[in-house]
Amino acid sequence: MSKIEDIVSLCKRRGFIFQGSDVYGGMAGTWDFGPLGVVLKKKIMDLWWDYFVERREDIFGVDAAIIMNPRTWVASGHTATFSDPLVECKACHGRFRADKIADGISESVTTEEFRALNVKCPTCGKSDWSEIRQFNMMFETHVGPVTDDTSIAYLRPETAQGIFTNYKNVVDTIYPDVPFGIAQQGKAFRNEISPRDFILRDRECSQMEIEYFVRPDDWESQFEKMLSAQHDFLENVMGLSGELIHEYEVPAEDRAHYSKRTVDIEFDYPNGKEELMGIAYRGSFDLDNIARESGKNMEYRDKVTGETFVPHVIEPSIGVERLILAVLTNAYAEDEVGGSARIVLRLPENLAPYRFCVSPLLKNKPELVTKAREIYQDLREKYGNVTWDDSGNIGKRYRKQDEIGTPKCVVIDFDTLEDGTVTVRDRDTATQVRVKPEEL
Ligand code: GAP
Repeated sequence: MSKIEDIVSLCKRRGFIFQGSDVYGGMAGTWDFGPLGVVLKKKIMDLWWDYFVERREDIFGVDAAIIMNPRTWVASGHTATFSDPLVECKACHGRFRADKIADGISESVTTEEFRALNVKCPTCGKSDWSEIRQFNMMFETHVGPVTDDTSIAYLRPETAQGIFTNYKNVVDTIYPDVPFGIAQQGKAFRNEISPRDFILRDRECSQMEIEYFVRPDDWESQFEKMLSAQHDFLENVMGLSGELIHEYEVPAEDRAHYSKRTVDIEFDYPNGKEELMGIAYRGSFDLDNIARESGKNMEYRDKVTGETFVPHVIEPSIGVERLILAVLTNAYAEDEVGGSARIVLRLPENLAPYRFCVSPLLKNKPELVTKAREIYQDLREKYGNVTWDDSGNIGKRYRKQDEIGTPKCVVIDFDTLEDGTVTVRDRDTATQVRVKPEEL
């Protein structure tokens, strides 16, 4: 299993992911995607959209505002309960999530229970703790020129509520048959007490969520279908190894009170098994809350029978950064080629930032460069995501493209000028074959 430090280092070295605000010493819990990372992220998001929205006739997209009316968060329960237990070490003043610094502590731990466990501070080793206080994770801001209680708003902590608040708009404009879903991708913000594990737990992340509206008596079969669609996407589109993916049936005592079933899909990350995504049966909790808070009717009317009901909801929710880290963990490998060690990202072809890398064998031979540029332009026109590399020697270029995850390197040499064939070197096997460019 790869180490997280190796993946972090590769991501920085090759321009995938940098610490946010790096130049100023960083900003904890934020990450910036570089030239290759942005391509990988976009491909992952586009493939998700294609799989769950474009290719299905029952799921529609929305793109809601990040700053929403604060009543949204009152109705959803976030204002009252979207909090983590914060505890401070009185000796070193380190602040921690109480439930994350020792095993067997729940999010609802009380100060007395915590003290009785004699937990040691992970930083200084002492056991001198403050009271536990519930810390609301929503980022507060002010809307408009006046900064007072009436102008408070929040950066959304999940994309889901931008879907629920548009449920009525979608029903009234698209008239979908139940079951139907609404999907959204976008940024979500959480003032996490302890962001950690590279991009696994961030203060600013991106989510891809679907609220799938079903008949109340049909939720169980729809849940199963949604769960198997998630596995299909993760394994057959993202290429994640099934052996690294695990289902966790969240027990009743750990589920939200309104949920009769929640399954977390966990992944074997370098630092251990962690939640990659969740699928929750939310009943009519959200639509009921919105109906109460807004005074608007959230019922759905069946077009044929005229029957009215408030749909129940199945919600698959996945964080883009967690999916990226899973893809990188799955792809990262260290092996040997021709007796020398190398690092290789075995990304599936549909995710690799570049499909081909084209280079002339020698940079100082104009006839090779001219021919190589010609082939490079052709491939670019055909595929778009093709890169050019004439730096260093050919061995170094291969190592670099291996680390980036480029499946094929195309090299133009003197034989190309004679017989028109090029060398194609395969990333995973390091074998080389000669083919005509049109056969690529
Ligand atoms: N609407 C439901 C919801 O937001 P959640 O379990 O809080 O549920 C869903 O979040 C997913 O979003 C998680 O499974 C994870 O993939 C991602 N996620 C949540 N918080 C995150 C964070 N701080 N950093 C990165 N990803 C996060």
